Amino acid sequence: MEKLKIAGGYPLKGTIKVSGAKNSAVALIPATLLAESPVTIEGLPDISDVHILKALLEEIGGDVHFDQGIMTVDPAKMVSMPLPNGKVKKLRASYYMMGAMLGRFKKAVIGLPGGCHLGPRPIDQHIKGFESLGAKVTNEQGAIYLRADELRGSRIYLDVVSVGATINIMLAAVKAKGRTIIENAAKEPEIIDVATLLTNMGAKIKGAGTDVIRIDGVEKLNGCRHTIIPDRIEAGTYMILASAVGEGVLIDNVIPHHLESLTAKLREMGVQVEVGDDQIFIGKGDRFKPIDIKTLVYPGFPTDLQQPLTVLLTQAAGSSIVTDTIYSGRFKHIDELRRMNANIKVEGRSAIINGPSELQGAKVKASDLRAGAALVIAGLLADGITEVSGLDHIDRGYSGLVEKLNGLGATIWREKMTEEEMEQIKNA
Ligand code: EPU
Repeated sequence: MEKLKIAGGYPLKGTIKVSGAKNSAVALIPATLLAESPVTIEGLPDISDVHILKALLEEIGGDVHFDQGIMTVDPAKMVSMPLPNGKVKKLRASYYMMGAMLGRFKKAVIGLPGGCHLGPRPIDQHIKGFESLGAKVTNEQGAIYLRADELRGSRIYLDVVSVGATINIMLAAVKAKGRTIIENAAKEPEIIDVATLLTNMGAKIKGAGTDVIRIDGVEKLNGCRHTIIPDRIEAGTYMILASAVGEGVLIDNVIPHHLESLTAKLREMGVQVEVGDDQIFIGKGDRFKPIDIKTLVYPGFPTDLQQPLTVLLTQAAGSSIVTDTIYSGRFKHIDELRRMNANIKVEGRSAIINGPSELQGAKVKASDLRAGAALVIAGLLADGITEVSGLDHIDRGYSGLVEKLNGLGATIWREKMTEEEMEQIKNA
């Protein structure tokens, strides 16, 4: 097991390139199994979630090659093997294997998904969708069993706007008989990306990116080539990081439209943000104004950037409030930031940040992916050395983080943890 060590206080400058979107990748990879011939996806990030999904496709008989961000999946020989435990528990998005396998084989057995602990994360809307398409869904000893004689298009109203449920229902519905209509669908860019891949495979989907998606089922889907969209959350993390410790940082490979809510909030804080076609420049930060943030579904402010932004708000002069309306438990990074001398308290679903604070290096633990990103930013800002454990969380979502940050002039490296440290973490 490794930890991350960061020597704070070095200003960052230069260009940083954003990788392909994790939350698209984890849906695009399972989607390939719906085709009858090879599918190639370009620009995939080199993160552990991608490697786990590759292994899952191989487990069910897929022939998968992954090199330099390009994955080719030949799904021809795949079979409907149960995936009750093991790798599926390692990531939340293994739930997309449910929709994809149900769509292709009319049956699936998938262990309940793992992933970041951000408070309750039910999948009732996914199941409601599958049932509405004609599947029988049961939960037996921690695994979801899905079976259908036939999948039939239907009208599904989501009671909660859910990215996962919207995509999962699309995956199950593309080969169903007749028309499926998803109402109150989520509108995140990753949904459009998955719909684009499926459409290139021959699916008939209209309205992805709006709150009503219409899918006319087709009999057969074919292979194709697809380039993934850039990761808006990785880009947003670097925008915040550059605001905190940058002296002029250009973030390359972005779709600025996907980041409008963050751009607006950073400008409100007084950050210089210059938007190009596929790049965003963040100027040297100086004095930051406090702001209030409420996380919302897209195009509102993303919950995934709430934790990194909280760190920047410790540098603003005054009081800021961050309210997470999506996840009740996404504040585990706050205790760690307090150990680094941040002045933050949590009240219900809100964190109240009083700044500015001079952050101090400390030994801290990433409890989830974006908490990890937040602690890295805090480490770059802090005086002295910060040690971040829980690196496996960060490796799930940030491709080449250490190399990319060192490329900007940061001093950050991985180190093996001692047995004593690993024991301490286990018992914490
Ligand atoms: N919800 C339900 N029932 C459901 C599904 C969701 O009540 O059946 C609730 C959730 O508990 C949550 C809200 O609806 O309060 C939104 O959840 P959603 O289903 O949209 O989240 P998700 O699909 O599980 C994706 C991203 C998350 C991101 C959220 C919100 C992936 C693999 N994950 O999760 O990304 O926070 O959407 O935008 O796409 C991350 O990247 O760090 C991350 C956690």
